[in-house]
Amino acid sequence: SIPKQVMLKEVGPRDGLQNESSIISTEKKIAWIDKLVEAGLKYIEVSSFVSPKWIPALADADDVFRYLKREDDVTYAALVPNEKGLERALRADVDEIGIFISASEAHNRRNVNKSIDETLSVLKEVVSTAKQEGKTARGYVSAVFGCPFEGHVSIGQVERVSHALLDMGIDELSLGDTIGVANPLQVKQVVRQLKTTIPTGKLALHLHNTRGLAQANIMAGLEENIQVFDGATGGLGGCPYAKGATGNVATEDVQYLMESLGIETGVSLKGLINAAKYIEPYVGNELPSYQLKLSQEE
Ligand code: HMG
Ligand code: MG
Repeated sequence: SIPKQVMLKEVGPRDGLQNESSIISTEKKIAWIDKLVEAGLKYIEVSSFVSPKWIPALADADDVFRYLKREDDVTYAALVPNEKGLERALRADVDEIGIFISASEAHNRRNVNKSIDETLSVLKEVVSTAKQEGKTARGYVSAVFGCPFEGHVSIGQVERVSHALLDMGIDELSLGDTIGVANPLQVKQVVRQLKTTIPTGKLALHLHNTRGLAQANIMAGLEENIQVFDGATGGLGGCPYAKGATGNVATEDVQYLMESLGIETGVSLKGLINAAKYIEPYVGNELPSYQLKLSQEE
């Protein structure tokens, strides 16, 4: 059986924009986030408190939080790579921090300039301080299903970093298919293995749609009773430190899948399309979302 209800987490304003060459103004980012909230989304990853030299498109994270008008029932989250990022995130009063690490040594090094073990010790301090400050934390593991530099990634590597993050006290673990190489049987295999030691309610799937398999992989996740799925409206996104990484699965396409399966999301398809339509012209290239394209033909 599959769940009756799932939660869609929107990472567009963060993952969606970090890989784009066009710099979108703070004002437009905020207007887009407002539209995402209007669509009914209750979790929005707003930006990243990473080095602005590494990710120029999100250099205004502090200002986005400063000028954003927040709804009480919405979680406004942001990525944090280190203590400096955490200080900024705390000053911005984020609702939740997102920490990230790769299951692959080579990808982790490209992404944060540190080994996995060095990153774990940085993150341990970050999560501990965040918790003392009353924040919740979400942990991302990247390259779970394959690495752009190393190729195969073993389930053992995924388990090791996953447990290291959970031992720090993170509240949820999001499994990243950074370069969209997963297949549905592999998703089942990895999730089943993790479920032997991790409650299913703590797991989320974060799928990039590089090879068009994200929706099939989501179905596999549903069959394993996963109830949290990340997406980016329009299908925006990608990791700049992973060669060939393209957009996240489009949130509106995931919403459509859920609605067709009779699974509740609490999110309006029209509202999501409206948000995708708003941001598309500022991104400057056509977005890959199926639902967005359909709506433009009407
Ligand atoms: P580094 O160069 O090794 O760090 O970068 P550093 O500590 O030597 O600092 C270098 C400079 O950056 C210094 O400034 C620091 O103050 C500054 P300078 O003295 O040269 O003027 N700095 C900062 N400034 C603002 N905020 C900060 C911060 N930290 C340092 N937090 C670092 C190390 C981690 C900072 C860098 O590698 C970085 O920012 N990486 C982020 C990469 C990134 O954002 N990748 C994408 C997100 S992960 C992802 O997309 C995957 C995910 O979606 C899941 C999936 O799909 O798999 C989550
Ligand atoms: Mg991602």
